[in-house]
Amino acid sequence: MKELIGASLKYQAGKLQVLDQYLLPHEEVWHVCRDVENMQSLINNLQVRGAPLIGLAATLLVAYLAEQEATREELREAIDALEATRPTAVNLKHCMDCLRHALQQDDFVGEIVFRAEQLFEEDVALCQRIAEHGVALVDASDNILTHCNTGALATAGIGTALGVIFTAAQKYGNIHVWVDETRPLLQGGRLTAYELERWKIPYTLLCDNMAATLMAAGKVDKIFVGADRIAANGDFANKVGTYNLAVLANYHNIPFYVVAPKTTFDAQCAHGGEIEIEQRNASEVTGVSGSFGACQWAPDRTSVFNPAFDVTPASLVTAWVFDSGIYNQPAFSSV
Ligand code: MRU
Repeated sequence: MKELIGASLKYQAGKLQVLDQYLLPHEEVWHVCRDVENMQSLINNLQVRGAPLIGLAATLLVAYLAEQEATREELREAIDALEATRPTAVNLKHCMDCLRHALQQDDFVGEIVFRAEQLFEEDVALCQRIAEHGVALVDASDNILTHCNTGALATAGIGTALGVIFTAAQKYGNIHVWVDETRPLLQGGRLTAYELERWKIPYTLLCDNMAATLMAAGKVDKIFVGADRIAANGDFANKVGTYNLAVLANYHNIPFYVVAPKTTFDAQCAHGGEIEIEQRNASEVTGVSGSFGACQWAPDRTSVFNPAFDVTPASLVTAWVFDSGIYNQPAFSSV
């Protein structure tokens, strides 16, 4: 496989490496990944996360295993096991389906490696095109609110929603970002803050439950979020808390944009009610953990509700920004 280098995933000198997103921002640790069990655990623990990145990391691992002379049957099992790690983001399924198709070819090793390189490079190009379209929605001096992490860490390229913000900041120089902390796993407070810091884009961190106050004060001009799966009718799943923002944006008349590559669109999924929502461990809500250590504040036997994602109805979306362009409400059916 050729050299492929992203912000949090790289294949270099015969080694597949991932940047541990659980340890960021205080520790930058790259792990070498050589087997399915290791990648499953990296994905399950959100050390590798973000819809496009999960799919690409799993893909590069399968290509690496193919080059290590894994059999067709072993590769088929690897693809199935990796696909089962996280159910909500469709990008992983899309990647694994591409590899299943490659596996049927006579030269399946060559075909899998070719498809893996193509998927990685395609994601870089998709991010770029998304940003070129999305930047038209941003005005100089905008205060943009975002949720979770949709940057270079979550993709092979410059990111989706955060890629638009990054490109707008390069264009205007005076963009300010409101960063939702993103409970329970703090992708905003840890990862988006880390990326904006590195890109030198002014930002302010807030707890998720402060967004209403901010909007009521007229301090949010626009909201840009990513997506893990967009249904055929435009409903979409994204990090839990996104739906809250969409409702608030609607009440306060603030434009609410969803930004994603075509690989996040699921034409087979009629509406948001069909999207499987991953439920996660109670410990993520009863306390916090990370490179800073772990702490639990809730009583031991506390019953917990912890969906990793929520579904926002299409009616609350001002426009969807894809690599192919910007689609508003009536135009969405032509995506
Ligand atoms: O649980 P995570 O951190 O993988 O969830 C990520 C998100 O919800 C992102 O907003 C989405 O994947 C878009 S990333 C370009």
